Amino acid sequence: MSVIIWHKFKSKIRCFTAQGSKPASDWAKMGIIIDNDANEFLDEVVSRIRSYLDGTDNVTNFIPQSSLRKITDLSLPLEGLGLSNTIRDIDQFLKYSVKTNLPGFMNPLWGGFNIAAFAGEIIATLANNSMYTYELSPMATLIEQALIHRMCEMVGFPDGNGTLTTGGSNGNMIGMMCARYHADPLGQQRGFNGENLVCYVSAESHYSVLMAANVLGIGFDNVIKVPCDLDGRMRVDKLEEEIHRTRVNGQTPFCVIATSGTTVRGSFDPVKDIAEVCSNQELWLHVDAAWGGSCLFSATYRKLMDGIELADSVCWDSHKMMGLPLVCSAFLIKKPEILRKVCSHGNVAHYLFLGDAEEVDLGRTSLQCGRRNDALKLFLAWREKGDAGWARLVENYIDLANYLQAQVESNPNLEMMSSRVWSNVCIRYTSADIDHNIVNKTLRQQLVKTGNFMISQSNIGDDIILRPVIANPSVTKETIDNLVEEIVSIGDDIVRGIPFSN
Ligand SMILES: Cc1ncc(COP(=O)(O)O)c(C=O)c1O
Repeated sequence: MSVIIWHKFKSKIRCFTAQGSKPASDWAKMGIIIDNDANEFLDEVVSRIRSYLDGTDNVTNFIPQSSLRKITDLSLPLEGLGLSNTIRDIDQFLKYSVKTNLPGFMNPLWGGFNIAAFAGEIIATLANNSMYTYELSPMATLIEQALIHRMCEMVGFPDGNGTLTTGGSNGNMIGMMCARYHADPLGQQRGFNGENLVCYVSAESHYSVLMAANVLGIGFDNVIKVPCDLDGRMRVDKLEEEIHRTRVNGQTPFCVIATSGTTVRGSFDPVKDIAEVCSNQELWLHVDAAWGGSCLFSATYRKLMDGIELADSVCWDSHKMMGLPLVCSAFLIKKPEILRKVCSHGNVAHYLFLGDAEEVDLGRTSLQCGRRNDALKLFLAWREKGDAGWARLVENYIDLANYLQAQVESNPNLEMMSSRVWSNVCIRYTSADIDHNIVNKTLRQQLVKTGNFMISQSNIGDDIILRPVIANPSVTKETIDNLVEEIVSIGDDIVRGIPFSN
């Protein structure tokens, strides 16, 4: 028997061929088998997954970084430590990881656990394809195309296209790149003088817009933050004023980025009105729907993005409200040829794009070369749930957010800090004669240390606020009751000056 031990990794994984001499074609089919030790290892890993999902831990197991560093072996050894050590490393990792699957995890704009998507993630890693060519990723290519096509349909881009990206930040940058190409197609060859190009965002937009301006050489000064109304929506009258002012200054407006679902308040800019301004002014309209895009599933809430079909490009994160494992995010564009032009640097890759599958080689519409398969998990989850399942998920989140708001409004020690339409609930603890900012900041720190909940702290104007967000399928009314009780109890203790045990 011909057995090749894979010495390099000293693992128990072996390559083998069947007995006897074999024709050359069979060598190509040489498999990988795993022996008993490796099988046991896999069983151990699966048991870790099961107990993690059993959810008996706290959300946080808070420990200062200096202490965690002391009790964790971070050395990279000369000689490998073997698979039994791998299990110990996994245990240490999981013990101190924030348990984002638990209902008390209400911190960023994502959380929970989707088992079909989880399976998709594992299987995609098992297959380990790269998304640049059809030849290398036949199934994944077709799946990604089907997803992009469906998402384009949902935003109202019947002839649109797009790509899966590393997240909304990346999607916003590609949107800005497409807008810049649209304004100055020759610049891609010649180079751009960013200082003359100006874009407009709401004052409450995500910071990734600044990142995009930085990367693309637009410059922070040329990202105009348009003031918002009391509900956190971009003011269209102010947008028009700013565009006028820019033109008078001799600069060139090139793009408006509207937000559907702002990070802190969950506000939706008036896309339809903004689109009208963009159309009159011949400006590209990109919509950052990283957080709010999932409203499109719901007949009740899709009106929040009224006019989205008038946009030129959209980004939409499935790893936020839809609960897909990070990362899974779509960039969608109405006129596909612009994305293709923006990504035309790939045309020189004669070693990759062989010409016979140009239309289906997704590397031609991506900024990445090697790219992981984020499509399979979304595909499996979507087929498992269906549009109706996503709609129920979204609507349930908003119902729960309404419930949380009602609890806050009926509690004398809590107050709402913003109006709301989405599942962001901006609140603070309140009492007579306290420094609200100090109390709420301390309260949040204590809440995280206690370990049952993780919620976010943010600012609205000069006020520090607490922002639980409902984006986790395991949250129930009971979770919310417990959250409210714990916030009030910790707040009361701070105000009474009672020291905490941990
Ligand atoms: C409104 C908005 N846009 C964009 C992003 C960035 O998304 P990502 O983290 O996927 O890059 C976020 C992240 O929270 C966001 O809230």
